[in-house]
Amino acid sequence: MAFAAKRCFPALFFLFRATSPGFCTAALAGAPGGSFWENLALRANSHHCELCRTSPQSAEKGAPHYHQGPSWRLKLRSVIAAMQESGNFAELLGQGHVYQFGVFSGWTMGLLRRVFGRTCLVGFDSFEGLPEEADGTAGWTPGLFNSGDIRDMLADQLDSVGRCKTRFVKGFFNTSLTIGLKDEMKLQPALYIDIDVDLYISSIQALDFMFASGLVQVGTLISYDDWWVIPCWHNSTNVFDDGETQAHVEIARKYGVRFNCVSGPCKYISEAPGGFFGRCTIHNGWGPIFQVVEIGTDHFDTGFTMSPADISRWEARNYECIEMEQASKNKS
Ligand SMILES: *[C@@H]1O[C@H](CO)[C@@H](O)[C@H](O)[C@H]1NC(C)=O
Ligand SMILES: *[C@@H]1O[C@H](CO)[C@@H](O)[C@H](O)[C@H]1NC(C)=O
Repeated sequence: MAFAAKRCFPALFFLFRATSPGFCTAALAGAPGGSFWENLALRANSHHCELCRTSPQSAEKGAPHYHQGPSWRLKLRSVIAAMQESGNFAELLGQGHVYQFGVFSGWTMGLLRRVFGRTCLVGFDSFEGLPEEADGTAGWTPGLFNSGDIRDMLADQLDSVGRCKTRFVKGFFNTSLTIGLKDEMKLQPALYIDIDVDLYISSIQALDFMFASGLVQVGTLISYDDWWVIPCWHNSTNVFDDGETQAHVEIARKYGVRFNCVSGPCKYISEAPGGFFGRCTIHNGWGPIFQVVEIGTDHFDTGFTMSPADISRWEARNYECIEMEQASKNKS
């Protein structure tokens, strides 16, 4: 581990720029003496809320609300800013790579290029759509999301500003994610891993490859685009039953990982004042983003802190979740 997880910042760290009372930081105001990781998450939230407050888009959408605002991945900007300010992640921020599992049309990689600037991107996909294990849950069937082999086209589009050529690994993960890949491709530790592969089997293969290859470090960010799809599809509060979430908990157990929730709905912000959806918070939106706090501990922690009651409330009010639930009803 490159640095002590318990290291705290001087009091200045907590003097967030004051915004209007009751807005943004109120419910998240942290007490000095919180852990390094809690403080980093608070700092990221503070950045995000500053963007909420000042972005023209949020005014259009009736700031500070905007849970239907820009893609949840744009919140990575706030998380990265908080990491930069902490002064602890120079190597990861400087040389770390961004890994995207589930490329499809490349839309997300385009967005990640904008978020991460010159950082090296590596994308993994079969380019033949979902594997045969897709069983129709959430409408996922074999061959869905088949974009064809668009690697050359995407590499051209994505390379204009990159520090290194954007690279792709083609194939189903059971054969493409070999133990030699790290050396062959000179892969660097992950600054960010984007899991967008829908299925449990693909998620566990992707995560296991990253951890087994030593490409995950303290500070690495991991997000899940389909965290909520299956719980919403089944209107269920059993979040860890299937899909990307099941892979997350299994990987936490297998490698003794402690995660912290830094963005998105892996933490529920209490209703008052302003409410979860009535106020800008980095914990609004769709995809949760976790940060690796520790690896190899006997006390693994998924970082997901929502209670069943929180989950019910969230599911009943999140727009995408409600749509998902309706789609499942229309199917049955
Ligand atoms: C790998 O997974 C694909 C897709 O599920 C499957 O068709 C193939 O048979 C598997 N190959 C091996 C070697 O297990
Ligand atoms: C989802 O489940 C909750 C109870 O857990 C229930 O109150 C709600 O009506 C359900 N939603 C739909 C659309 O069935």
